[in-house]
Amino acid sequence: MTPFSDSVRCLAVVGAQWGDEGKGKLSDILAARASVVVRFQGGANAGHTVRVGDDEFILHLIPSGILTDGVRSLLGCGVVVDPWALQREAHGLTARGIAVTGRMGISRRAHLVLPHHREMDVAQEVGRGDNRIGTTSRGIGPAYRDKVAREGLRLGDLHDWGRTCRIVEAGARRARFAVEAVGVDPGDRAGLDAALTLERLGDLRQWLLGMATSTGDEIRSALAAGKRVLLEGAQGALLDVDHGTYPFVTSSTTTAGAAAAGSGIGPTLIDEVLGVVKAYVTRVGEGPFPTELSGREAEKLRRIGREFGATTGRPRRPGWFDAVAMRHAAAVNGLTGVAVTKLDVLDSLEEIKIASCYRMDGKEIDRFPDSAADLDRAEPVYETWPGWREPTTECRTFDELPARAQAYLRRIEEVASAPLRYVSVGPDRAHTVPI
Ligand code: IMP
Repeated sequence: MTPFSDSVRCLAVVGAQWGDEGKGKLSDILAARASVVVRFQGGANAGHTVRVGDDEFILHLIPSGILTDGVRSLLGCGVVVDPWALQREAHGLTARGIAVTGRMGISRRAHLVLPHHREMDVAQEVGRGDNRIGTTSRGIGPAYRDKVAREGLRLGDLHDWGRTCRIVEAGARRARFAVEAVGVDPGDRAGLDAALTLERLGDLRQWLLGMATSTGDEIRSALAAGKRVLLEGAQGALLDVDHGTYPFVTSSTTTAGAAAAGSGIGPTLIDEVLGVVKAYVTRVGEGPFPTELSGREAEKLRRIGREFGATTGRPRRPGWFDAVAMRHAAAVNGLTGVAVTKLDVLDSLEEIKIASCYRMDGKEIDRFPDSAADLDRAEPVYETWPGWREPTTECRTFDELPARAQAYLRRIEEVASAPLRYVSVGPDRAHTVPI
């Protein structure tokens, strides 16, 4: 059975590594069977790459469903929405012949990312010095901080312009203090100028309010009418603010629990949770990474896998598949299936490694450490798999894959304790092996 078989109505797709696992491609394929696709957390820090024929699309905020005719695309209350990033993305899609108007809805409860959040993000990174997180500078952390502090601006607040002005002015003032506090001269930065922000926000107000909706109501109605709903995660389990490598994480819950809370439905409506992993691992930004490769091996994987950030263009850090991290990600997400992407990137390798456990303080452990400092001390203990050294990109069934590739995939399935549902063997929609 593959996800979105007839019995599955509501499916969550989540990243089970440090993001960039290929969720965009999987979501795009699954959207073909869905009526509604919902992003439920994160913001324009995400970069979901989808290839349609010769065209490549990089989506930061808009759900991958926008690329499939007839699909409704929603941003849930768990997403932090940068109105200008959204506008740029919508214009870019429209210019390429993809209709956005009338096909998108945004939760009235979703918080907005404002220019002063981006200024704060950059200044706070400067203030962290050697302990910087390596954020995407998209204002994500400061926007979630305001949300949790109950000082943020929600989409629905735009109905009340007086309230909007008060929230933006207070936010810009706090941001100015925060920027000063880290020793950065706030000067006359445009992002800290509340009047300018309000002027620019005023221009987008009607457009944004035209998309305001209750995502929970829309999802419940679609499910009640027998339609399918796809909940599309961003980032990955190891960047989750609780379950990831804190503090080197993003500021949202990236795991499956957020698929319900961040879209406005109860968890009992979700039928399946599909975890997406690469056949190896990458990480972008700072933080511990036990199986990280260096030198020529790293260069090779980065080159073949085109491992450069879709949002920031930064080179990604490549490494071997990590079974300890996979078990952790499977457990905290309650995965019911797993999709393995970029298998083809390993086609030319003579040997492939999997870290089956870690060695710490002279002992072997198979539990993912709770602290980043402990993870930093963990030495991977590897099992070595023979490479298949054959191209896999033209394979369309599991049986067509080389026997050694099949064995490697079955090992990942065993580690995930969840059935393998999809294997991706290239960037195009067609380069996919359903299991
Ligand atoms: P932020 O989400 O911009 O605050 O960044 C926090 C951390 O999450 C940094 O290490 C980023 O590189 C990482 N990050 C955020 N979004 C993504 C993503 O979509 N893919 C991979 N890494 C991400």
